[in-house]
Amino acid sequence: MTFRIHTYGCQMNVRDSEAVTALLEQAGHQPVADERKADLVLVNSCSVRGKAEDKAIGKLRLLVKGRRRHPARIVGVMGCMAQRLGTELFDLVPGLDFVVGTRAARHVPRLAEAAAAGAGPQAILGRLDDPEVPHLHGQGALSAFVTVLLGCNRRCAYCIVPDVRGPEYSRPADEILSELATLAGEGVREVTLLGQSVLNYGRQKTDVWAGAAPSPRGFSEPFPRLLEAASAIPGIQRLRFTSSHPSGCTAELARAMAELPPVCAHIHLPVQSGSNRILRRMRRGYTVEQYVAAVGRLRAAVPECAITTDVIVGFPGETEEDFEATRALYRQVGFDNSFIFKYSPRPGTPAADAADDVPDAVKDERNRILLEDQDRIGLACNERWIGRETEVLAEGPSLRNPARWSGRNGQNKIVLFEPRGALAPGALVRVRIDRAKPQTLYGRIVGEE
Ligand code: SAH
Ligand code: SF4
Ligand code: F3S
Repeated sequence: MTFRIHTYGCQMNVRDSEAVTALLEQAGHQPVADERKADLVLVNSCSVRGKAEDKAIGKLRLLVKGRRRHPARIVGVMGCMAQRLGTELFDLVPGLDFVVGTRAARHVPRLAEAAAAGAGPQAILGRLDDPEVPHLHGQGALSAFVTVLLGCNRRCAYCIVPDVRGPEYSRPADEILSELATLAGEGVREVTLLGQSVLNYGRQKTDVWAGAAPSPRGFSEPFPRLLEAASAIPGIQRLRFTSSHPSGCTAELARAMAELPPVCAHIHLPVQSGSNRILRRMRRGYTVEQYVAAVGRLRAAVPECAITTDVIVGFPGETEEDFEATRALYRQVGFDNSFIFKYSPRPGTPAADAADDVPDAVKDERNRILLEDQDRIGLACNERWIGRETEVLAEGPSLRNPARWSGRNGQNKIVLFEPRGALAPGALVRVRIDRAKPQTLYGRIVGEE
C-alpha cells in the first residue's frame, strides 16, 4: 500500500517517523507525498501542550471524514498522544483504525496490514520500559538524527514526556557508533544525537561503555566520551546534540566541545524561567545562578558558542516580578534564539494540581514581550557576524528565493548566500556575512573546503 506520515512535535518524533517509514518500506509499502494518494495515513502525535493534542485530533478527524472520497483509507496514530490517550482515541476519533505507543512503533506495518484486511480498531501501546530504538534511516540525506537516549527520568513538574516516553534507556555506545559509521558511509555529513535530556546519556546504572578502551582524551563522563568517539568516525563533519539539561553542562562537556572539531559550537539549553522561585516549583533542579555558571563554563571554553533556550510563560504562580527576572536573564545571557511556550497544564503532572492561575491574556502578553526581546537580542547576536566568515553546510536553493542557497553554520544559524560555481548540497563553504536579521544571516561564498 501507499502511505503518508504527518509528524508533529519534536525531533524525537521526526526520528521515529523516519524509522517507521523505513519499516513500512521494508514491508513492501511505498511512501507518497500526496496524502490523497495514500492508502494509509499515519499521524505521529505530540502531547507536550494541549494545543499539540488538539491539532493531532483535528487532523485525525479530518482524515476519517475524508473517507467519503477515499473509502479504503486507513488512519492510524502513533507517538506521545497515542501513548497518553490509548484506546480513548477510538471514542475521540470514531472510525480511527489503530493506535500505537511510543515504544511499539515496530508493530505499525502489521497493524496497517490487518486494518486493510478488515480487522476492527486495534491498539498496541506496548511497555514503556521496552528499549525499542528507532535505528532505521532513509537514504540520501545529508543530516541525520540518531536517538542515543530514550525516555526521561527527570519529571519536571509541568511535563508529560516521562509519562509518554517512559524511563531513560541509554543505548550501548558501540551500537550508536556503528550506526554513525553506517550513516557516514551512506553520505551523511551531519548527525544530531537525540535524547530528552541527552547529557544524561550513560548516567544510569547500565555500563554503556562496557568493554571499550579508555577515552583517548581522558574523558570520564559517558556523554563527552560519546562525542569523542563519534568525532573520530571518518565522514562525520558535524556533530550536534539536543536537548541539554543544564545539570549535564559540565567542565568535561565544555572541554569536549572545545577540543573536538566536528562538535558544533551550539547548545540548546532550556532554562524555562529566570526566577528561582519558579524554577523550584518547576522542579528543574538548578538555580538561575547555576544556569549562568554553566553558560559561563561553555563560553570560557568555546567563546563562539551559540546558546538557545526554551522558556515557559505563565507557569502557575508566575508573577510580574518572576517574568521580569526571565527578561533580565535574556539580557544577561544574550540567547541566540529561544522557543517560548505558554504554560499548558498536562493531566497527571504535579503542576496540574496547582491552579492554572495566570490568565491567558497575560500569557499572551508575556509571550509577545519575550518574542520582541528575543528579536532584539537575536539581532544583536547576529550582527556580530557581519564582516566575518563562517562555515556553512550548503543544503540547496532557498525555498523563498531559489536564486539564493540556504544552509546552516556551526552555530545553527540559517545562512542565505549567493551560490557560485558547481555547488552541490553537502559542500562546506566559507561565507562572508554582510547582512543580518534576527533569525538569518546573509552573505557570499569566499571559499570552499
Ligand atoms: N526534554 C526537553 C524538553 C522537551 S519538551 C528538555 O528538557 O530540554 C520541549 C519544551 O516544551 C520544554 O523545554 C518546555 O519549554 C516546553 N513544555 C514542556 N511542557 C510544557 C507545558 N506543560 N506547557 C508549556 N510548555 C511546555
Ligand atoms: Fe520534560 Fe524535564 Fe524530561 Fe525535559 S527534562 S522531557 S522538560 S521532564
Ligand atoms: Fe511532543 Fe513527545 Fe516530543 S510530547 S515534544 S513529541 S517527546
